[in-house]
Amino acid sequence: MAHSSPCTVPAWLLMQTVWSCCWRRGQRCVVNALDGYNRTALHYAAEKDESCVELLLEYGAQPNALDGNKDTPLHWAAFKDNPECVRALLESGACPNARDYNNDTPLSWAAMKGNLESVKVLLDYGAQVHVTNLKGQTPISRLVALLARGLGTEQEEECLDLLCRAAGRFEIRRADGTLPRELSKDPQLLARLTNMVAQAPSLRSLARCAVRQSLGVQFLPTAVKDLPLPETVKDYLLLRD
Ligand SMILES: *[C@@H]1O[C@H](CO)[C@@H](O)[C@H](O)[C@H]1NC(C)=O
Repeated sequence: MAHSSPCTVPAWLLMQTVWSCCWRRGQRCVVNALDGYNRTALHYAAEKDESCVELLLEYGAQPNALDGNKDTPLHWAAFKDNPECVRALLESGACPNARDYNNDTPLSWAAMKGNLESVKVLLDYGAQVHVTNLKGQTPISRLVALLARGLGTEQEEECLDLLCRAAGRFEIRRADGTLPRELSKDPQLLARLTNMVAQAPSLRSLARCAVRQSLGVQFLPTAVKDLPLPETVKDYLLLRD
């Protein structure tokens, strides 16, 4: 349980943070102190411990702090599959579509590891699926690269299914028409994905994607609850079909 686990942020950084908070409440500079990689205490906490994340946010930690690689705490929470940290950060205003130096978003970081629970939370908070990094990779192509490495677990498969539903439609070829290298080495996966891509997406799945996109960055379960739609359609919009 995240709540009962010991706080595992580097001790010196946490001590410095808590000490400063106790003595200089209201000053927001020290809680956001940077280490040699320009990382804040929140970057470390986000990888591991929800209670630390909440404590730091309460004391004014910047949810969108960028480290030396332009990574945010949310990137790390997503990468380490800490869905409770992902949620706490997003509730405190972390941008779900923050771009790192490679233009990757937290959803890409979660997808490249097949982190189903973090992917679910990010999608609930309006993370975009149709985003590409500087190498033309999308969250789906990141996940496909993982599947091509041959460890296709049930969780990774479920993650692919969820991302495909959120995307409405997707391409396996890059913008220049070439196939990702790892995919050409896995003919079975290639055949399966080619088959998926070949089926024309239904109008309702495209409509779902468009409605989700038009709702933008917000907590979609709340936004969708207020829409004048039947419950089954609301569940469909929230990818719960
Ligand atoms: C940290 O940020 C400072 C100020 O923006 C910059 O000069 C320095 O190069 C950064 N260090 C790293 C490791 O990114």
